Amino acid sequence: MIKRGIKAFGIVIAIIILGGAVLLYLFGKPANVNTDTELDGVSDEMSSILYYGSLAANSHNSQSWIVQLDLQAQNLLISLDEDRTLEVVDPECRELYISIGCYIESLTYAFGAYGYETNIEYADFSGMNSEIATISYCRPDNAIRNDQQIETIERRHTDKRAYKTERIDSEVITHLLDGMSGIYYYEAGTENFEYLKTGTMEAITEQSAEMDYRAELNQWLRFSNKEAEQKKDGISAEMMGLNGIVKALYYLTTNHKNAEGDTFAAQSIDTAKKQTDNCSAFFVITGNDTIIDWIEAGRKTQAFWYRCVENNISIQPLSAMLELAPYSGEIQNVLGVTENVQMILRAGYVDDYGENVGVRRDLKDYITVI
Ligand SMILES: Cc1cc2nc3c(=O)[nH]c(=O)nc-3n(C[C@H](O)[C@H](O)[C@H](O)COP(=O)(O)O)c2cc1C
Repeated sequence: MIKRGIKAFGIVIAIIILGGAVLLYLFGKPANVNTDTELDGVSDEMSSILYYGSLAANSHNSQSWIVQLDLQAQNLLISLDEDRTLEVVDPECRELYISIGCYIESLTYAFGAYGYETNIEYADFSGMNSEIATISYCRPDNAIRNDQQIETIERRHTDKRAYKTERIDSEVITHLLDGMSGIYYYEAGTENFEYLKTGTMEAITEQSAEMDYRAELNQWLRFSNKEAEQKKDGISAEMMGLNGIVKALYYLTTNHKNAEGDTFAAQSIDTAKKQTDNCSAFFVITGNDTIIDWIEAGRKTQAFWYRCVENNISIQPLSAMLELAPYSGEIQNVLGVTENVQMILRAGYVDDYGENVGVRRDLKDYITVI
């Protein structure tokens, strides 16, 4: 009798363990977003370029761009998607224009990787116009594919994990900043680094207490593989640096209902503390406050980020200070830089660099071909 009882207990425990393992496997396995790159009448090469272009950094991964591809004229008209703006953290659309700048740079870099030459012409921003720029492209006869450049695009991603605190060599810093104007480097331990670290933590703590901030962030967080695979935008567990069992536990315990609660806010503050405690420096990208300058700041951010990728330096933008007074109004003076601060980038080394997980929309969702 007792033996039978022990056996039954053993079976129940085995079922529970097996069930738990299956659940952890199902919730922890990588999402398969599988972006559809098919566009009617468009070559595979052009589709690849357009897909690689979409792997640009952009705020909340909202991918707020609309594209019209004119095959005959060989150009792309890039416009803003005003239905994908972030009204709470970005009411002036500063980050929106920076993100479009990142997209423009990413596209031209992708064209370059396939040997194309490009030319960018900005739209007229004097009226209310959602058009941003026209990128003309041309494929020289001797065009050759640069696989290393493609690899750089595939590897670039926002790394939200803890980094090593090991110093970046001064020769690497000199190389990263070579020919780049308006980018500043603040090494851990310096007064300005401490100001950015403390300010970021204070701003994130303040933002996390605001219900409208929580609600907006909630809209862009993804809480299952299915949601990431269906929406193909926003921030999935993998994009937060969570994989395997940790990812499974995140998806099993977090959802759109509790993501606006105090516990989730406290966890986000905790994560931010781990991030700012574990890095070797901040880079700051500056520029003036006009639409063109924001777009240019975005282009500079994306170009600088590629250099970081080539040097195995992980990057995470931290925008809270730039989204919130008094930090946004004082930061330029405190750092003593000549133009306003447009991006704050946390930087450092990691053991396994990783790559972009490719949560990106289908090309036909935002590209029309004429
Ligand atoms: C203007 C701008 C602001 C951003 N702000 C933050 C931020 O405050 N925190 C963060 O973790 N990532 C931030 N990011 C990174 C985006 O979340 C990221 O680029 C996007 O989710 C796409 O992911 P990927 O860079 O890995 O391709 C920002 C990116 C841009 C362009």
